[in-house]
Amino acid sequence: MSVPIPQPPRVPFLGNVTSIDRDVPLNGFMLLAKQYGEIYKLEIRGTTVVYVNTYALQQELSNESRFHKFINPNLMETRHLIGDGLFTVRVWICEIFVSIIQLCIKAHSGEQNWGIAHRLLMPAFNAGSIRGMYPDMQDMCDQLLKKWERFGPEHVIDPSDDYTRVALDTLALCTMSYRLNSFYTEGQPKFAQAMSDWLKECFRRANRPSIVQAMMPGATHQFEEDQNFMKSVAQQIVDDRRAHPLDKKDVLNTMLSADPKTGERLSDDSIIKNMITFLVAGHETSSGTLSFMTYYLLKNPETWRKLQNEVDEITGGQPPKVEDLSKMTYLQAVMRETLRVSATAPTRTVAPLEDTLLGGKYFVKAETPITIQVWMTQRDPLVWGADANEFHPERMLDGKFEALPPNAWQPFGFGTRGCIGRPFAWQEIQLVMSSVVQKFDLYLDDPAYTLELQQGLTVKPKNLRIRAKLRHTAP
Ligand code: HEM
Repeated sequence: MSVPIPQPPRVPFLGNVTSIDRDVPLNGFMLLAKQYGEIYKLEIRGTTVVYVNTYALQQELSNESRFHKFINPNLMETRHLIGDGLFTVRVWICEIFVSIIQLCIKAHSGEQNWGIAHRLLMPAFNAGSIRGMYPDMQDMCDQLLKKWERFGPEHVIDPSDDYTRVALDTLALCTMSYRLNSFYTEGQPKFAQAMSDWLKECFRRANRPSIVQAMMPGATHQFEEDQNFMKSVAQQIVDDRRAHPLDKKDVLNTMLSADPKTGERLSDDSIIKNMITFLVAGHETSSGTLSFMTYYLLKNPETWRKLQNEVDEITGGQPPKVEDLSKMTYLQAVMRETLRVSATAPTRTVAPLEDTLLGGKYFVKAETPITIQVWMTQRDPLVWGADANEFHPERMLDGKFEALPPNAWQPFGFGTRGCIGRPFAWQEIQLVMSSVVQKFDLYLDDPAYTLELQQGLTVKPKNLRIRAKLRHTAP
């Protein structure tokens, strides 16, 4: 016997659109989770989407023989530029009306390009290759440290902004040996600005009736200009690499080589889409994680002190070396706990391959999108205890992380389509955060600040402002 999935009252023509918070959809989803519990459904633009909030349901949905990743047909605008490239991109977005934070661009698992790119790129993103990127990562991290040092302790820093610069530049340098130079431009660099404007417009277009779109030639022109600009920069990088081969095992060189299985090569178009994919998928997720971590560290002085002690002890006052990172167990616990309470990519969406009963009682038709609210599932008190909403890195220490129930911690997604950039992000965040705590004492500009969220591509703290004072022991 199946039990109906609860649904808030619908408004004629609009369905449940009004149940969703337009500015920060996640805030609305938290309220709905409080009201409806483990599961509810919403009707959005004629499509029913099921939302789940518990570990038990997340675990069930992590069975790839019953559920596959879902491709949102409403959001194909982004495919103009990167859609069938690479292997997948998921972009977490704030859609104005749809407001389902879920993927917007992806290649189907079976697509040929996904297969070639996946086979080529998996080795380029394994832990060994990522270690080789350490000097480039350090180069970018040093730019952030220098900036904070030179501005001095009175300067008010927007950490999300600077972490975004470091994340974007690190990706461009490590994957394609290209310098975006975000720290040396007033405002956003042109490429970053074009990417941000283009993504925003993608989501607006996805939600505009075509008749309205037809009356907005200016917006369409700008959208195409941004798209062409990004493509032309990427094409220029590819042409330049062909004209001046670089003896370096970066991701671009990997993509220019042949598929080890079939001998096939990726087309230039596909390479370009992949390059842009990395920048899109990798920069806000990492910078948001660094921003949340900064917030939690500043709100928990004891955690900050323990972390600073660990870094000082392991580095002996020298800039962190790649071999130091794995010894920083407390730092890893802080990272895991940050990604548990504040997953910067807060949802993932799957669909059942066949009609099914979820939790043994909720009937869901095949191909119905089911969004896993990772922000909620990773705070499930049945797994994390009564203090699940609190930040306690200690719960990730001394074998406790390894002893968690399967799939309880999923900030990087799951299975074959989980995050390929995980080792990259991990190393980068370790390097940046250990370097920051080693070099500076940070302060909240407003000691009374409490966490507010902002949501765009990903979730990050809103209006977090800090100051950075050089430590007398800084290297
Ligand atoms: C996929 C999270 C950093 C590239 C994903 C997914 C999540 C995620 C949740 C989707 C999994 C799913 O839908 O099941 C994160 C977080 C990061 C991060 C939290 C940082 C803290 C990066 C970086 C890169 C990257 C640095 C690039 C170097 C990708 C790509 C995919 C992906 C290409 C699609 C994989 C596929 O479908 O085959 N990521 N990511 N991510 N991520 Fe990341």
